[in-house]
Amino acid sequence: MSERLLRRSDGVRSVSVTSFRSAASPGSVRRGSAVLPSVLTFLVIVASGGLLLMIEKGMLNGVETPSPRGNARRGLQKPLFKEPLLTCGTTMCSQKNMPRSIWSLSPPQRKTVLQHILVNDEYRFLYCYVPKVACSNWKRVLKVLSGALESVDVNIKMDHRSDLLFLSSLKPEEISYRLKHYFKFMFVREPMERLLSAYRNKFGEIESYQKKYGVEIVRRYRKGRAKEASLTGDDVTFGEFVRYLLDEDAEHMNEHWMPVYNLCQPCAVSYDFIGSYEHLERDSDYVLQRIGAPPFVRFPERQTWYKPVTTETLHYYLCTLPQKLLRELLPKYILDFSLFAYPLPNTTIEHCRH
Ligand SMILES: *[C@@H]1O[C@H](CO)[C@@H](O)[C@H](O)[C@H]1NC(C)=O
Repeated sequence: MSERLLRRSDGVRSVSVTSFRSAASPGSVRRGSAVLPSVLTFLVIVASGGLLLMIEKGMLNGVETPSPRGNARRGLQKPLFKEPLLTCGTTMCSQKNMPRSIWSLSPPQRKTVLQHILVNDEYRFLYCYVPKVACSNWKRVLKVLSGALESVDVNIKMDHRSDLLFLSSLKPEEISYRLKHYFKFMFVREPMERLLSAYRNKFGEIESYQKKYGVEIVRRYRKGRAKEASLTGDDVTFGEFVRYLLDEDAEHMNEHWMPVYNLCQPCAVSYDFIGSYEHLERDSDYVLQRIGAPPFVRFPERQTWYKPVTTETLHYYLCTLPQKLLRELLPKYILDFSLFAYPLPNTTIEHCRH
């Protein structure tokens, strides 16, 4: 709690509020790209880029950091926040039309976020899980902490429902109490990398996804296949997947590609810590210390079968797309880019020649 407040600075807040507001009204950002006219969409991208530029130009210099002595007293390393969220991120959250509490969300929005927050009452924390951002490993840790699993290394397939307590299963007053008093954290990842990871995993490996989504995608987006009966949906291209995403409403997407903003509502829930996939080990260690996990509970190593998305792979896939398509996709994930301070990908043709 105190850490979060320390990192807020009114000076910083007012700077970016003005710059953001001057370019696009927050209401239009929130309603999402489906209803956003293209001019506004463009402005949102420009505004978001400007925001990122300001961060680079030292907006963060004015932000207080906790004194080293304060940290030493708690016996922790310097807190490893994904800092921009707590500066420009909370600034964006202070916009007029952004939600302040989960009770001001629409019922379907609230349902989504409550179904993604896991509860541990013994260590008093809430974890909002984001698929494709190490969530299986964090669920393992939660199961070890609650005694349902002996060790994080037990060689079993993760069951994503059993032995886990979801905030959605509690009563409103129990939910409010935990949101107010518990340590709340989540992990984020570069938005396009997360999409690519979901695409490669679900359409490359999982038959149920090929049947449920793949067949539909091929029908809709591959010429001349609309009426074909024998589709298997196992050869969806990344481009077809992106076309499908463009036509889907962010609030009703499958959780593997739903924007993190919709899954975890970082404005309605004031997370104490937002770790990143890019610094997974470091940030997970911090969370484990912070919640007071016993020393034998470690964050699991990457599984050996794990196929990482490298910068080169991402570059390759993004460049297989018509760059116009990529530019159309970005507004859908613009809040994930800007709230978590990821730079927008370079969508020029020159960039893809490299
Ligand atoms: C995009 O990439 C091209 C080629 O590498 C480069 O010249 C250009 O400056 C980049 N644009 C941005 C906005 O980074």
